[in-house]
Amino acid sequence: MENLSRRKALSLGVALGLVGVTNPVQAWASTGSAAGTDAGTGPEWIWDDVADPLMVSMLDNGHVPAINTAWASWVNNDDPLPGGLPAEFTAYLRQVNQLPSWADPAKLTRAADFNRRRDMYLFMLYGLGSGIMSTVIPREAKSVYWSAGGAQMQDRAAKTFTFGYDLSQLGAFKPTGQFVVTANKTRVVHAAVRHLLPQSPHWRAVADETVPISAADILVTFHSLGTYVHRKLLDWKIPYPAADQEAFLHSWQVAVHLLGVPYEHIPKTWAAAEKQSAQVLTPILTPSTEGIALAEELLGLTAQIDLGVTRGFLNEFVRYVLSDEVGDWLGLKRDYVSAALVRTAWPAYILFREGLSPVMPGTFYMFDQFVRALGMLFLNKGSSGATTPITIPTGNRAG
Ligand code: HEM
Repeated sequence: MENLSRRKALSLGVALGLVGVTNPVQAWASTGSAAGTDAGTGPEWIWDDVADPLMVSMLDNGHVPAINTAWASWVNNDDPLPGGLPAEFTAYLRQVNQLPSWADPAKLTRAADFNRRRDMYLFMLYGLGSGIMSTVIPREAKSVYWSAGGAQMQDRAAKTFTFGYDLSQLGAFKPTGQFVVTANKTRVVHAAVRHLLPQSPHWRAVADETVPISAADILVTFHSLGTYVHRKLLDWKIPYPAADQEAFLHSWQVAVHLLGVPYEHIPKTWAAAEKQSAQVLTPILTPSTEGIALAEELLGLTAQIDLGVTRGFLNEFVRYVLSDEVGDWLGLKRDYVSAALVRTAWPAYILFREGLSPVMPGTFYMFDQFVRALGMLFLNKGSSGATTPITIPTGNRAG
């Protein structure tokens, strides 16, 4: 546990709603994981046996630019695999481009419907909660910063959001949806990054691992996304029936699996996910030079469009969803008037929006514009009207 006493980790866990007994030895025990059996190897020692060697070969043989061009038109789950790809790459896609046998179509349909019904809260929580939390997950912040995409954060934020957007589309997992393709592209990008980043002297100078993005790292990020959002929806008392909760978890189980994490390491229940999150996510949160810079870039992006709120309000909203401790780490300047407003008016906004209170708060439209504009910003839909394509990098950030 770097820079954090156990007591601090617990208090941060309380703030994030992710508390538990911190015992790294048991953190990855497979009890409660989807298969209920022990694979024998911890996920911190698992990368991607299938995609990683393939991408070494694709990068070293200069095939990546052609793959990026060829797969630009490969978007829908039922699109035929693109032509013009190296045979090895096509064979790989044929092998992985399908839902796992344990995927439950009824749950996935319900999850997509839930994502649609709750998309405003999800955009807000993924964007300002998980997005900024990623900057205090040191391994993630350092790899994102020093990879090629770290130099163009706006583009990258939009692309990363593609993942959440495609996941939230009605029918995301159906043949006409796009999620399986997005997940497969992301898995390939991660495999490329595993080969590229170790060649970056900048990344090597700050990394505490030799190869980035292990299965454990992916599970940590899943907790910063799915598990965190699940907890916040409950904390905010948003109507969230058990069937929605189960469906939301299932969509994440399938998503994480499509990213290459072995089935046996994927949490089986939200209780197991929350326990694992308290063990492997909360205690590792800490600031880094790279993370502070990324957070500033991400929050600065929002200043480029009219969210109808000040930067001070934005800072305070981030503090509200992630804790003052995280806000202090990232140097988010205080705005105490906005802080008071967020803490009282946001719960009132939710109550009215959900029909749980007849009283429309005076700030309703301000909050409404804020959540809508954020969704647009991260989706990059406002200007282009199209989903930003995911491309495989061929190098790292220069410096
Ligand atoms: C790229 C999502 C876990 C580091 C991407 C992209 C997506 C994505 C959609 C493609 C965006 C683009 O083209 O820039 C996810 C999801 C994760 C996850 C949903 C887990 C649930 C991780 C982890 C790390 C990581 C654990 C590092 C510790 C990166 C990096 C890139 C990337 C460095 C490449 C950016 C570039 O092009 O330079 N990820 N990711 N990701 N991801 Fe992840």
